Amino acid sequence: MNQIEARDLTLGYGTKEVIRGVDLTIEKGEFISIIGPSGVGKSTLLMSLNATTDILGGSLRVLGEEVGHLGPASLKRLRTKVGVIFQCCNLVPRLPVLDNIASGMLQRKSVLSSLFRYYSKAEHEEIYDYMKVVGMESEALSRCDRLSGGQKQRVAIARAIAQTPEIILADEPISSLDPVSARRVMETLRNANREYGMTVVSNLHQLSYARDYCNRIIGINDGQIIFDDAPEKLTDAIVRDIYGVEDPEADMSQDCSPVLLPQPEVEVMATA
Ligand SMILES: Nc1ncnc2c1ncn2[C@@H]1O[C@H](COP(=O)(O)OP(=O)(O)OP(=O)(O)O)[C@@H](O)[C@H]1O
Ligand SMILES: [Mg+2]
Repeated sequence: MNQIEARDLTLGYGTKEVIRGVDLTIEKGEFISIIGPSGVGKSTLLMSLNATTDILGGSLRVLGEEVGHLGPASLKRLRTKVGVIFQCCNLVPRLPVLDNIASGMLQRKSVLSSLFRYYSKAEHEEIYDYMKVVGMESEALSRCDRLSGGQKQRVAIARAIAQTPEIILADEPISSLDPVSARRVMETLRNANREYGMTVVSNLHQLSYARDYCNRIIGINDGQIIFDDAPEKLTDAIVRDIYGVEDPEADMSQDCSPVLLPQPEVEVMATA
């Protein structure tokens, strides 16, 4: 079943077109990464699937709804079915892991019980299951501002799963993480995909993770989808076309090296 169907879709801001006239179909249960150089429109495309980017032309259907024509109530309903994970997690820092994950269930709980952070035994068990999926059950009562970046990201994924969405969108979920934490986060997304059958679409800068974890890669450049296929079809020549460089990951690590700035000239005051 197609969950996402874009036809001749143009996205952008005001009159500025960022993604131009693309066709895209995503089926239930896929695990997709969107790759491409910085500023090329990955986040713009990803967030259009949650109806937060302006559609400048064409059509976009998400879970059977024409995104450009939704009123506030239908928009809200659609967004409950599309969970979003941001790079900087957006957790409530002073609340424990358990409550942060529970907040994903808010739309399924009564206002009163969520206000007083009261959870039934069944809800506790459900939250515990989500914690186990992301490997955070031993930190249930730890405040989120005391967790590492990778742990926070895993809590954010558990919160998105707790929302029981049909689609999870993750915008650069591992960009600030060390390789071990990054792998755990990608494995967690894979669990959401495999155990709960949720479709996962993630923007990734790290090509090797896209190759290892996803079953489909979409490469963007110059407002167009220039690659859309299985990871094993992504040849070095295509990577060069997408990024304009031989080895984007080596290039990115060079970007992180310290830049030597010219020393300011010291002004010598003339003394009388
Ligand atoms: N809110 C906005 N208003 C106007 N222009 C925007 C806005 N957000 C993004 N843009 C522009 O749209 C283009 C695509 O941005 P986008 O964030 O989608 O790129 P990206 O591929 O996700 O980049 P990165 O890899 O750096 O995250 C850029 O030129 C950016 O400046
Ligand atoms: Mg982005």
